[in-house]
Amino acid sequence: MANVTVIGAQWGDEGKGKIVDWLASRADAVVRFQGGHNAGHTLVIDGTTYKLSLLPSGIVSGTLSIIGNGVVLDPWALKAEVEKLEGQGVRITADNLAVADNCPLILPIHRDLDGLRETAAGSGKIGTTGRGIGPAYEDKVGRRAIRVCDLAHLDDLEPQLDRLCAHHDALRAGFDQPPVDREQLLSELREIAGFVLQYAQPVWKRLKKVRKAGAKILFEGAQGVLLDIDHGTYPFVTSSNTVSGTAAAGSGLGPNSTGYVLGIVKAYTTRVGSGPFPTELEDDIGQRLGERGHEFGTVTGRQRRVGWFDAVIVRQSCAISGVTGIALTKIDVLDGLDEVKICTGYRLRSNVYDYFPSHAADQAAVEPIYETMDGWSESTAGARSFADLPANAVKYVQRIQELIETPVALVSTSPERDDTILMRDPFMD
Ligand code: GDP
Ligand code: IMO
Ligand code: MG
Repeated sequence: MANVTVIGAQWGDEGKGKIVDWLASRADAVVRFQGGHNAGHTLVIDGTTYKLSLLPSGIVSGTLSIIGNGVVLDPWALKAEVEKLEGQGVRITADNLAVADNCPLILPIHRDLDGLRETAAGSGKIGTTGRGIGPAYEDKVGRRAIRVCDLAHLDDLEPQLDRLCAHHDALRAGFDQPPVDREQLLSELREIAGFVLQYAQPVWKRLKKVRKAGAKILFEGAQGVLLDIDHGTYPFVTSSNTVSGTAAAGSGLGPNSTGYVLGIVKAYTTRVGSGPFPTELEDDIGQRLGERGHEFGTVTGRQRRVGWFDAVIVRQSCAISGVTGIALTKIDVLDGLDEVKICTGYRLRSNVYDYFPSHAADQAAVEPIYETMDGWSESTAGARSFADLPANAVKYVQRIQELIETPVALVSTSPERDDTILMRDPFMD
């Protein structure tokens, strides 16, 4: 298998960026296929930190980076991110960045709507990243989106603007907001168009060429399976399919192109935003893990909720996404605990569940059933070989592997690129 698809197997922030960057030096192209700048992928290379939201994590190592059609693209966020990374010395040109010309755009009106809805929802809010992701996907599916290719035809945009504004004006009126300022929107689009168009192309064609040349493609998922619009903790989810199956549709290749599916799995669990979280810890241990793991959102800076490892949801994610092997990250954050717990099942109304039920009220009500293991006092931080891990950490990794019915291919022991233990090479498997 030449290609690798990386996806998050929990609620996002599993360490996808670090692993994609580590794998990128062995790939010929890195492709984002869903989500938008709600993602926050952190790379640490020789002490320098890079935070990416929209750009594929391959851009830092200079690998051809592609934004596929499944992404919702905020042109202003793209410009800001390109400029920020260029300021950090990363070279970004039309030679190493390609943007699908059929990507739908996130516009300021989408951000407005995201914020208005969240505010109106009060305590029932989803806790979105406020980036306009949901409203932009709604307009895509509602067939009224403005897309990257439209930026080359702004003089002909009136009929599309009519459709888009008719919809948004009605929604805005419901929130006592003025209608869309069409002139302003058009003038902002005119200003940004040239910047985006320099990277725009039929990405499917570029990928066809890459594939024909026998090159290795790395697909970079955003968010995680539990945030998937179908399979996640609905309605507390994002508005795209985050599962591995999306890599093909979201980039313009067939399902036989996505290759080895590498699920990224944190050695414990975190979630940012509202919604069910069975193994959440609201005690000192949770606080300690949050502090040691620096669990603050890359995008919004919000404190992430923290809990024990939940083998039920990861087993489910691995099945739903056809995960070939996992990368287990942040094991070092568990160093020094007397004991560690793993959730192996749920109890709900005196029944035992070996899966996460679909109904929102059931998801909120399940009680985790834990297995307790001895912790380890030694440090795993920075370990680069499996033999360097303490015996109890090895037992923990092996138990996880057993419970999720999926092999561990990589273990990550610090934020640094090279503090990574390779057990099975996804590009060779
Ligand atoms: P992503 O959204 O899946 O790319 O993950 P984020 O970048 O949002 O969050 C993961 C955080 O954990 C980042 O701050 C990473 O630098 C950090 N990280 C990744 N792998 C490890 C690891 O093995 N150990 C530790 N301590 N931190 C890690
Ligand atoms: P990465 O790629 C963690 C969460 C938000 C919210 C829900 C919906 O860094 O793992 P949205 O703005 O997408 O409509 O918000 O999804 N969310 C993420 N949580 N990591 C992410 O991305 C996320 N992207 C969105 O917090 O609960
Ligand atoms: Mg993140």
